[in-house]
Parts: sequence; C-alpha cells; structure tokens
Amino acid sequence: MKKVLITGGAGFIGSNYVRYMLEKYPDYHVVVLDKLTYAGNLANLADIEQNYGDRYTFVKGDIADPVAVDQAMKDCQYVLNFAAESHVDRSIEQPGQFIMTDVYGTFVLLEAAKKYAVERFVQISTDEVYGHIPQGSSKEGDRLETRSPYSASKAGGELMAHAYYVTYGVPVLITRGSNNYGPYQYPEKLIPLFITNVIDNIQVPVYGDGQQIRDWIYVLDHCSGIDLVLHKGQLGEAYNVGGGNERTNLEITHKILELTGKPLDLIKYVKDRPGHDRRYSLDTTKIRQLGWEPQFTFETAMRQTVEWFLKNEKWWRPLKSGEFQEYYQRQYANR
Ligand code: NAD
Ligand code: DAU
Repeated sequence: MKKVLITGGAGFIGSNYVRYMLEKYPDYHVVVLDKLTYAGNLANLADIEQNYGDRYTFVKGDIADPVAVDQAMKDCQYVLNFAAESHVDRSIEQPGQFIMTDVYGTFVLLEAAKKYAVERFVQISTDEVYGHIPQGSSKEGDRLETRSPYSASKAGGELMAHAYYVTYGVPVLITRGSNNYGPYQYPEKLIPLFITNVIDNIQVPVYGDGQQIRDWIYVLDHCSGIDLVLHKGQLGEAYNVGGGNERTNLEITHKILELTGKPLDLIKYVKDRPGHDRRYSLDTTKIRQLGWEPQFTFETAMRQTVEWFLKNEKWWRPLKSGEFQEYYQRQYANR
C-alpha cells in the first residue's frame, strides 16, 4: 500500500488526478491537502468520497502552514504538489498570494519531504516558465524567462524544488504542462469561461487580436503524463507535458461557438492582458521517450468538454455567482 499526498486535490487538475490515481492503483491511499480557496471545491471530489471513501482522506489546510503539512505528509511515500494560485489575470491584480503559495508553500512542502524522506516528490509546473516563444518549441534545458507574476512564482517553486534535490537529495521531479481543458475547470479560464458565457448568450471577451497561441492538452492526458513521471521519471529532471494542439485563441473561440451553435456576434474584442505571452509551444521528446503519448484528439476532447459543461450546470452555475461576479466586474467591466 502506497500513501500519496496530493496537494491542491480539490482544484481542476488535482481532482482529475486523484480520480485517475485511485482508479488505476487499487492499493494506493490518497491524502488530499487543500486550502479550499475560491478555486478549490469539494464538489470536484464528491464521487471520490462515495467510490473510494476507504482509500481517500481529505485535509483542509494551507501548504504554507508547516503544522498542517507535517500532519498531512506523515507516512506518505509520494507527494504531488498541485496546490497553487493558478490564474495569470489574478496574479497581475494581486501577486502577493502567488508568492505565498507557489513559492513559500512549495518550500514548506519540501522541508517536510526532507524530514519524512519521501520516495518521490513531483512539483507540478507549467510551460509558462519558458516565457513566450515566437518560433520553435521549448525544451527542458532552455532558459526560464518568466514574464508574469504567476509564471515567476511557478518558476520560483520549481527552482526551489530543484535546489532541494541538489542540496539535500530530496527526490524531486518536475512536470511542465501546457494549457489544460476538461471537466471541473473553474470558469475563469478561457475555455470554461467562454463555454459558460455563450450558454447564457453572454459575450466572450477576447484579449487583443485573439491571435495568441496556446498548446492545449486534455486534462486526462496531462494526468497520465504526470503519473508516468511520478513512477518512471529520472530524479532531478524536468519533463514537458504538452498536447501538441497549438491553436489561436480565436480558433478556440470559433470552435466553442460552433459546438454550442451560437453566433459570431457573441465575440467581443477587449483590451489586451498586460505583458501577454504571444505563444507557447513544448517539445515533448523527453516524456515520449519514457513512453507517454496523448490519448485524446483535440476534436473529440473539446466536444466532450462542451458536452460536460452543458450537462453539469449544477456544478458551474453556483461558481459564477458571489466572489466570481466581483472578480468579473473588476476584470472585465471597463475593459
Ligand atoms: P486550480 O486553481 O483549479 O486549483 C488549485 C487548487 O489549489 C485549489 O483546489 C485550491 O484550493 C488549492 N490551493 C491554492 N492555494 C493553496 C494553498 N496555499 N494550500 C493548499 N491548497 C491551495 O488550478 P489547476 O488549474 O488545477 O492547476 C493545478 C496545478 O497545475 C497548479 O500548480 C498549476 O500551476 C499547474 N498547471 C496548470 C495548468 C492549467 O492549464 N490549468 C497547466 C500547467 C500547470
Ligand atoms: O500554459 C499553462 C498555463 O495555462 C497554466 O500554467 C495556468 O495555470 C493556466 O491558467 C493557463 O494560463 P493562460 O493564461 O494561458 O490561461 P487562460 O485560460 O487565462 O488564457 C488562455 C488564453 O486566452 C490567453 O492567451 C489569454 C486569453 N484569454 C483569457 C481569458 C480568461 C482571453 O482572450 N480572454 C479571457 O477572458
């Protein structure tokens, strides 16, 4: 029996990974440590409680709190750190919390991992650490050239993880994922925001000219990549996990309108994001050499994602009220 600590397990990717892991490994016990910020949601884990209650423990707590971390990590062999402030626009508004969680919180986890001599520690990072890349694709050895407070905080976290590997021998692995989409994604990010807006015939705010490029990966492909790195990755190494689906934001927007049968006049061009990265692109040779490849085509997974949001209004409607409305006003009202 392996005991696995998954931080941020009540968020989008973390909750998908918890489900993935419990389904795949009948002898694993998962402990989720999550602060339940605006982005954390126990509804993301409701089926887990029902289906795997005997192999799953939830702990509400902050990864920057050494006492909470100490208690949650005790007896765990594997740690995967998904917990983060994850939204670039919020990092531009309020960078401080990003440093507290994404950098300091990672340090607190690494200290506990050192104390408990865990067997593997996976730091979930992002392709945004490379900064934007006008041509070609980023390789793991490339310089980190972060440009937003979010990406700088994520780079700080992974550099600290690497330092703990080199200095103290903490068995660290790093994954750098591209843009995820799929079920349970909080509706502030491009794809779920636009799907849920158009369902309600609300215009979708496209930043700048909409020609920015992201490499989209279905969340379950990201989960399988992380899982492979956890079990087979070489300690101290970073691995890119990219879907290989580079699309402009306008292409994504048109796809969502097509799949929902909504008109083009729902598109509204608004002022660009400050410091907006124009293009990300990942070279995934290294993780493919470990034996990984994505299982979902963009066409199929986008259709499934739109269908999921159409079927799960009960999940997302409550999220678009309260704090979200205040955020939406601040972010978009005068844009
Ligand atoms: P999310 O915002 O949906 O979820 C983050 C989770 O972390 C939430 O459950 C939240 O409550 C929890 N959390 C935040 N601060 C915490 C703290 N101090 N202590 C404990 N829990 C805390 O994020 P996501 O999109 O699921 O991203 C998960 C991870 O993957 C992040 O590390 C992110 O940087 C990384 N990542 C995301 C993407 C993407 O496209 N979404 C791509 C690559 C990498
Ligand atoms: O690349 C991986 C990263 O992808 C992750 O590390 C981050 O956690 C995740 O949030 C995501 O960052 P992005 O900034 O790329 O994602 P977002 O969904 O915010 O935006 C995607 C693109 O869409 C980006 O070019 C900005 C644009 N956009 C976004 C929103 C929310 C719009 O044009 N309008 C919007 O309203």
